[in-house]
Amino acid sequence: QKLQMSLDQIEKGGYDHFMLKEIHEQPKAITDTFRGRMLADKNMIKMSSVDLNLDKFLNANRIIIVACGTSWHAGLVAEYLFEDMARIPVEVEYASEFRYRNPIITEKDVVIAISQSGETADTLAAIKLAKSKGAFVYGVCNVVGSSIARETHSGAYTHAGPEIGVASTKAFTTQITVLTLIALKLGKANGSLSDQAFKDYIQKMNRIPKQVEELLKIDDHVKSIAAVYKDAKNCLYLGRGFNFPVALEGALKLKEISYIHAEGYPAAEMKHGPIALIDENMPIFVIATNKGHYEKVVSNIQEIKSRAGKIIAIVTVGDTQVKEIADHTIEIPDTQEALTPLLTTIPFQLLSYHIAVMLNKNVDQPRNLAKSVTVE
Ligand code: G6P
Repeated sequence: QKLQMSLDQIEKGGYDHFMLKEIHEQPKAITDTFRGRMLADKNMIKMSSVDLNLDKFLNANRIIIVACGTSWHAGLVAEYLFEDMARIPVEVEYASEFRYRNPIITEKDVVIAISQSGETADTLAAIKLAKSKGAFVYGVCNVVGSSIARETHSGAYTHAGPEIGVASTKAFTTQITVLTLIALKLGKANGSLSDQAFKDYIQKMNRIPKQVEELLKIDDHVKSIAAVYKDAKNCLYLGRGFNFPVALEGALKLKEISYIHAEGYPAAEMKHGPIALIDENMPIFVIATNKGHYEKVVSNIQEIKSRAGKIIAIVTVGDTQVKEIADHTIEIPDTQEALTPLLTTIPFQLLSYHIAVMLNKNVDQPRNLAKSVTVE
């Protein structure tokens, strides 16, 4: 028993939980995912799986992304990335809905399946269906040699390393990393991105691991916010554009491990429903980065304020406007708006973690959830 305990602690690398360890591993995980692919000094992205299939990607009518859970959220971020950087139309589907909808798929479609485990039954079934209709299927998996990795025509691994905590953290950010590299590569290849824009993205991408590392130092600040809101019964997460999926993911993290009801919404949709829920007991987490429809999000924040909702805002370093209105702010380093999901998601991970710990929940193995869902 004693030996078991110490082995367990060794495995957690000095952290209390795998989830916290994995959150802190993100700078390294993202760097590992870059390795051999993003050659920042040469302004190049090398990915043989994309190069070898470049005509398929560039001639695709559309890209259909299929995934479940957190991986689906990474897919939503990718929708914004591919459309913005490479001007290729994208649809993102829950694998479970896609497979039963009699979907229209042709040989001109590229299907990207995203899965940490590579074993999710619904995603695997969606891949088989897409293959049977003649689509080219590309996988983004973390587990090497997994069923999805084997079933797809080609793909790229995320190099997050083993993820033990049921709530996905480093797998999510490395999925976004891989998908950003692909979007940049395609944007450069089809001329949607100028050489200068491409170069600028590469330089900014290259700084992300260090920026994540910096961001992780605000852990105590996030913990103090967690202490204020840990007894909330309902929470709302709002974001726009690239950060709308981050709001969904933030809400999912909180639900998964703290069992607090949380909903993610595109900020502008607040007026079509969620605003009715706002009162002084409602914490609202808002992503208000400086280039992400900032003024519009600020007016959402004002609407929340006038209804006495509690505002916790993620802002870009140097922000002054939101700081005056919000109850709490969390600063992220400055980068291109398209790359901010890799940063804005970090405080939400830490927040959920601390709330779950404060509520004495089983952080690494939340009730009713499984790390990989291999049945329908
Ligand atoms: C389960 C896990 C989630 C994960 C989802 C998809 O629900 O608890 O963390 O996001 O499956 O898993 P996959 O391995 O396909 O990414």
